[in-house]
Amino acid sequence: MDPNLPAAESIERAAALVRAGRLVAFPTETVYGLGANALDAEAVARIFHVKGRPPNNPLIVHVADEQRARAVVAEWPEAARRLAGRFWPGPLSLVVAKGERVPAVVTAGGATVAVRVPAHPVARALIEAAGVPIAAPSANPSNRVSATRAEHVLAGLEGRVDLILDAGPTSGGLESTVLDLTRRPPRLLRPGLISRRQIEEALGSPLEMSAPSKAQANVPLPSPGMLPRHYAPAAPLDCVSQGWPAVRALTEQSIGVGWLAMPGDPAEHLPGLVRIEMPGEAAPYSAQLYAALHSLDAAGVERIVVTLPPDGEDWAAVHNRLARMRS
Ligand code: TXA
Ligand code: MG
Repeated sequence: MDPNLPAAESIERAAALVRAGRLVAFPTETVYGLGANALDAEAVARIFHVKGRPPNNPLIVHVADEQRARAVVAEWPEAARRLAGRFWPGPLSLVVAKGERVPAVVTAGGATVAVRVPAHPVARALIEAAGVPIAAPSANPSNRVSATRAEHVLAGLEGRVDLILDAGPTSGGLESTVLDLTRRPPRLLRPGLISRRQIEEALGSPLEMSAPSKAQANVPLPSPGMLPRHYAPAAPLDCVSQGWPAVRALTEQSIGVGWLAMPGDPAEHLPGLVRIEMPGEAAPYSAQLYAALHSLDAAGVERIVVTLPPDGEDWAAVHNRLARMRS
C-alpha cells in the first residue's frame, strides 16, 4: 500500500488479527516490526518463538500517543515528557518503569518497559485500529539483519507471520534510539536516528553512554541490542578503511565477495565481486544499509567487506551497527 495512504480494509484486517492474538508485520519509519497485542502474553510469546529470540531480550511497546504510553508505564518522569513532546511520533524508544498491565513476557521479566510512538502512517493506523498497544521487535530472525522491506520479512519469516502490511521500503533504515530513563543520568542503550546530541539538547544535560557488553547465560540483559555481534548478515563481515586491497586479495583466492564501497572507491570489475556503492551521506546510507546486506545474503557471497564511512556524530548509529556485524 501507499505508505502515506494506509488502505483502510487491509488495516482493519491486520488490526483484527492483532486483536485475535496473531502476528502482523508492519512498516515503521525505522524498520519493519513483527507485532502482537502487547497485553496478550500468549501472542507475545509467539513473537519470541517465531524469531528464535532469547526470552531475556525485552520488546518495545508501540503506542498511538504519549497518553497511551502513560497507560502502560508506572511513572512518567519529566525527562520522558520533554522527550516525547520533542521527538514523538518518531524513532526514539524510552525505557521507564513498567505498568501492571504489561505482561512479564514483554519485558523479559524486568521491571522496565520500552515505549515508542512510531511516525509511519501505516504503523499509526494499525495501532489506532487495533485499539491495543503493539509489542514489536524488528521483523527478522533473531541475530540477523533487520527488515526494511516486506521482501526481507518474507525471506526471513515466510510461513511464520499471519499478515505483512507492505508499504515499500522504510525511510529511516536503522532501528530506533533506545534511551534508559530509569537511570541518572539517562543512559543511551542503542544509538539511532535521533542522535545523542539532539537528546542532550532537549534535556539540557549529558547522557551516559552504554558500552557493548558480553551476554551471560540466563542473566537479564541491559539491552541485548548492544551485544557485540547482533545485527549480522549470513557471510562474515569485515570493516576496513581501504576496501579495495582487501577485496582484491579475497577475489584472487576465488572467494565470492560482497563489497559495500564508498563513493570514490575503485569501480573496476573483478571476478566473483558484487560491488554496491553506498551513499556518501549518513541518512541515505542508513536507509540503504540493511537492504544492501540483504541483497548480498541473497547473492550468496562468502565474505563481506565494508569500506568504513566517515567518523562524526551523524554516522554514530551506522558505526554502531557495523561494529556489531563484524565477525
Ligand atoms: O526501530 C525500532 O526500534 C524497531 C521498530 C519495529 O520499532 N524495533 C526494534 O525492536 O528494533 P528490537 O526488539 O529489534 O530491538 C529492541 C531493543 C533491543 O536491543 C532490546 O534489548 C531493547 O530495545 N529493549 C527493549 N525493552 C527494553 C527494556 N525494558 N530495557 C532495556 N532495553 C530494552
Ligand atoms: Mg532487532
